[in-house]
Parts: sequence; structure tokens; C-alpha cells
Amino acid sequence: MDRYAVIGNPVEHSRSPQIHARFAEQTGQDIRYGRLLSPLDGFAETVRNFAARGGRGCNVTVPFKFEAARLAARLTPRASLAGAVNVLRFDEPVDGGWLGDNTDGVGLVRDIELNAAFALAGCSLLLAGAGGAASGVLGPLLASRPARLVVVNRTLGRANELVDQHQGVARQHQVALVAIEVPPIGERFDLLVNATSSSLLGAASPVPASVLRDGALAIDTMYGAPARRFLDWAAAHGARTRDGLGMLVEQAAEAFWLWRGVRPATVPVLAELRREFGVPA
Ligand code: ATR
Repeated sequence: MDRYAVIGNPVEHSRSPQIHARFAEQTGQDIRYGRLLSPLDGFAETVRNFAARGGRGCNVTVPFKFEAARLAARLTPRASLAGAVNVLRFDEPVDGGWLGDNTDGVGLVRDIELNAAFALAGCSLLLAGAGGAASGVLGPLLASRPARLVVVNRTLGRANELVDQHQGVARQHQVALVAIEVPPIGERFDLLVNATSSSLLGAASPVPASVLRDGALAIDTMYGAPARRFLDWAAAHGARTRDGLGMLVEQAAEAFWLWRGVRPATVPVLAELRREFGVPA
């Protein structure tokens, strides 16, 4: 039986073991998937030990995604662009022959396009935040060819840095990509993606409601209680809302595919999680 795990600190809240167990049942793959709490100063050792004990790969969660990118022997282009890794595959030789990927962005894109049936191509998109969560999703969002993508962040320097790193990809996909500190007055967007941690700190939204076009889609990359205030705020201003559960399941499916070469069905797994969280399908 092949072993996988999610490694983080904290990690007990992670839903990944449940999601991968469902994928394994569905596809008949003989795997076991657990949780590993890593000491904050011992991530590399935790991964090495897991690989040495027969682990085949792992998911990486907070706060180790950047360290994982530095540890991987090879990075996929999207992980390299994000500078962060949420999936490692332990290729031969086991010790250090790790492939690092980042499936967060493609997970978000799949959730938006397939599960929410929203066309990214040609839309105007406001991405709030310029930290780890935003850097993981920006590349795949650009590859989906919105007409315009604005990164808004409280600290303009971080937004500028993120945009500078992605300007080549934006040009390749003919997207107008800009960084700003305060949302442009009068500009409205089809899609708002909240990739800040502002709700954790008590603010309902990092941007004013004036950015929402009538019928806009508003997504939080978080789920459960941390996403609630933003989603309630967006719904109160007429937006369609979506939490990060779909992105969670889709990023997991992409990791499963990278490890096993099989693509599981995500819709029933997402429906199960929504029931557990008590949120509408
Ligand atoms: P994560 O990995 O969750 O993205 P992070 O890298 O610390 O965490 O980034 C947090 C993001 O949330 C940043 O964009 C941060 O803005 P700054 O770069 O200005 O710090 C944003 N953020 C956090 N609290 C916020 C608040 N109260 N209002 C607006 N933005 C906030």
C-alpha cells in the first residue's frame, strides 16, 4: 500500500485525508493518506523521514509551502512561478529527488469554470491579497485569459512584486495586469477573489462593495468559519458567493492525478464536504 500525507503546522484541521480516502475508494487505488504535524523548524527532516519510511508523496500546507519549493529538486512551471509548493512527489532517488508542484491555482480555476460554470476568459477580475494564497493562484488565473486582472493589496510593494513576477505570463496570455493599493473608484469587476486573511482578523472585506458588478461572483479562498464574514458581506451586496471548498477538492484531485495518474470525480466529494459544513451545494 502506498503512503501519502499532508504535512503542516497546524495540521489537525486538514480535510485532505478524508478527500483522498474518497478518491482512493472511487478509483480503486490502494493508498493510505494521513496527517503529519511537523515542528516549525523541522520540515525538511519530517519530509525526509516520511519518504524514508516508504512515503510516495505529500501535500504541504501552512506554513511550509515556500520552504517546500526550496527543497524540491525539480519544480513544475506553475510551482516555480508561484514560488510555493503544495504537492511533493518522491521520485527516485527517494532522498531529495522530489518533484514540487502547485495545484492551488488550477484547483481554483477548475472550481470557477467547471463547478461554478463561470467563464474566466474575457472577464474582469479583482484579486485581493498579495501573500502566499494570492501568489499560488495568480499564474493559473492569468492562463485562463481574463481581459483584465487587478491585484489589490493593502501593502502596495507586495502587490507590485507579485505583478512584476507575473508580467511575462500576463503578456503571453494577453491579459492587462496591474497592481494597486486601493480599488479604482468607479471600476466594477465580474469576479472578486479574496485571497487575503482579512476575515481572520475581523474585517468583512478588504475592498469596498463598489467593486462588485451586478451579479458578480465573489469567492473566498478559505472555507468554513474564516470565510463566512466575507461571503455574507458579498451576498448582502448582491454577489453570487462561493467559498474555498471547491478549490480544496479540485487542488486535491490534481495532486491525486500527479501521484497516481488517475483523475477522480470531484463533484460527489465536494457535495459531501458541503453537507458536513452545512453550506448549500
Ligand atoms: P497567506 O499565506 O494566507 O496569503 P500572507 O502571506 O500573510 O498569508 O498574506 C496575507 C494577505 O492578507 C496579504 O495580502 C495581507 O496584506 P498585506 O500584504 O498588506 O499584509 C492581507 N491582509 C491581511 N489582513 C488584512 C486586512 N485586515 N485588510 C486587508 N488585507 C489584509
